[in-house]
Amino acid sequence: MQTIFCKSETKINLMRAFAGECQSRQRYYQAALIAQQQEQIILERMFRFTAEQEERHAKQFFELLKDCAGEKIEITGSFPASVFTDIGELLKESADEEFHEFKEVYPVFAAKAREEGFADIAAKFEMISAIEESHHKRFEYYYDLWNKDMLQRSESTDELWLCLNCGHIHKGSEPPNECPVCGAKRGYFIRQTEAPFTDANMYK
Ligand SMILES: [Fe+2]
Ligand SMILES: [Fe+2]
Repeated sequence: MQTIFCKSETKINLMRAFAGECQSRQRYYQAALIAQQQEQIILERMFRFTAEQEERHAKQFFELLKDCAGEKIEITGSFPASVFTDIGELLKESADEEFHEFKEVYPVFAAKAREEGFADIAAKFEMISAIEESHHKRFEYYYDLWNKDMLQRSESTDELWLCLNCGHIHKGSEPPNECPVCGAKRGYFIRQTEAPFTDANMYK
């Protein structure tokens, strides 16, 4: 039997999810600014890219509350005060928070929604949870590179590095300190395999 939506726990969970997504979006946006200040442009772009996805998640959850439009919904929750300036700490905290979200929070919200008879909302929690898992992996991946000082170093001398500013491609175990075409600093170079739309294998 379906619970009345405006009296459901699912309504509260949607508001919790909305609050969480808004904060994730803001945390990643601020992390992007810190990365930019430290001339780590790849990480700036990565944080911005992820922040935009969190904004869309927030929108999805918010719109599911339309049947209770105008109501004030009280929630409780805990949110991380991850006010760090160290990029490693920002990456680690972000990876941990995503883990908590996809492993512990959204599966519980999905199960409750299903129990209350809201299968579509349960599916939405599950799909967004899967995205959060991919965010977790993304942050872990960059945290690992950062820790090993391999963000812009490769074991291979054939690695291709793409300048995110002008598109110049450099081959070598690491990018140049300055792009020979546009003068952008080293922080702009990303492994070509990690850059959107530009993986050489796509065009073979
Ligand atoms: Fe999200
Ligand atoms: Fe996320």
